[in-house]
Amino acid sequence: MAFIRLIELDRCAVGRGTFVECDGRELAVFRFADRPEVLVIDNACPHASGNLSGGEVRGRVVICPWHDWAFDLTSGTCVDAPGARVLRYAVELRDGVVFADLDAPT
Ligand code: FES
Repeated sequence: MAFIRLIELDRCAVGRGTFVECDGRELAVFRFADRPEVLVIDNACPHASGNLSGGEVRGRVVICPWHDWAFDLTSGTCVDAPGARVLRYAVELRDGVVFADLDAPT
């Protein structure tokens, strides 16, 4: 496991996604008002590469802004297209900074 520094927590939007480019990857970071957890997924929607960090967040689900596929951020699975999923990354918060293990997506 190699956790890489992504972004300061206070730069992450609450209740919507934040786009982060790191180590050649485009990621979407999600922070929530009702829980301290932070979730990180690939930014590109597996359907046609829509920008998931720009999607509407409903609970722990993000809606792709291009064709409205919904992805469960806690599992990466697509609610609308069985079998489709987006990669997720393990996250650690260290002193107000978000780190993710980009070597081991789930
Ligand atoms: S690109 Fe995301 S649903 Fe089509």
